[in-house]
Amino acid sequence: MADAAKQEPVITMWSMEFTYDRWMKSKGIPIHRGYFIEDLRTIELEWWEERGCKSAFIQLLGQEGVSASRVTEVPPGKSLPPVKFALDEIVYVLSGRGLTTVWASEGKPKKNFEWQEHSMFLVPRNHWHVFSNMQGDKPIRLFHYSYMPMAMSALPEPDMYFNNPYESKITVADGDFYSEAKMVQAKDADEGLGMRAFWYGNFFPDMRAWNKLDANERRGAGGKSVFMQFPNSELTAHMSVFAPKTYKKAHRHGPGRAIIIPAGEGYSIMWEEGKEKIVCPWHECSMITPPDKWFHQVPWPRREG
Ligand SMILES: [Fe+2]
Repeated sequence: MADAAKQEPVITMWSMEFTYDRWMKSKGIPIHRGYFIEDLRTIELEWWEERGCKSAFIQLLGQEGVSASRVTEVPPGKSLPPVKFALDEIVYVLSGRGLTTVWASEGKPKKNFEWQEHSMFLVPRNHWHVFSNMQGDKPIRLFHYSYMPMAMSALPEPDMYFNNPYESKITVADGDFYSEAKMVQAKDADEGLGMRAFWYGNFFPDMRAWNKLDANERRGAGGKSVFMQFPNSELTAHMSVFAPKTYKKAHRHGPGRAIIIPAGEGYSIMWEEGKEKIVCPWHECSMITPPDKWFHQVPWPRREG
């Protein structure tokens, strides 16, 4: 037994790294880590030959093995090469004004829609898509989010995600696929969570424009939140809004959420039960991920009045 213990194992019993992490590292572009990103509009990006653009991965503590996030840049007046990706992907526009073209396969109708800063939209699974910059003078930055790490843990071949001939049954060319998201009244509303209504669609033209936020008393007085639902996708999102001089009660949940700040200024506090607290200052285009089961809350705003 003693001799056996000294031998180097040929195959480790437990994989020490997620398949997605190995894939991500193989791309040679920056991977930004930590508890938060102060400004996604200014983080360092590097040229990614395969995608024909500058890009960087973000993997904050709590995203490992769960969610993928990335920032890409589209140069002034340019379009990125077409990509077909097998998973649903949420895109949030950090800066700039542009156009997305989406189609299922060659010969199938294409759908175009325009977006601007603070837009959010879904690129449906198994669809080709092209991002174009409609401005001639400055680059665009986009934030991408998907469950690729979880998918790759179950199905580890990258070509299944980027070079897969499977033809989608979703029809993006339908007239209303990318029409403006609508407010929908929930039939089985959870009054305590403030889920009386939710924002439903594949395209949210301006995350700051939501003016029908549902009161969410459980998260602290003055706080409001809206839940967003993409049709036919298990990706979900929600947005909370805090009036000046208010706070969000501490809560905790599972890992992988990416919180992007659309507007405002403040800070969040996160901590693992019984351990030191981490302060995450934020403003527009900051990103925070509360690690698995860490408490987090928004206390009194740093800058008042
Ligand atoms: Fe949370």
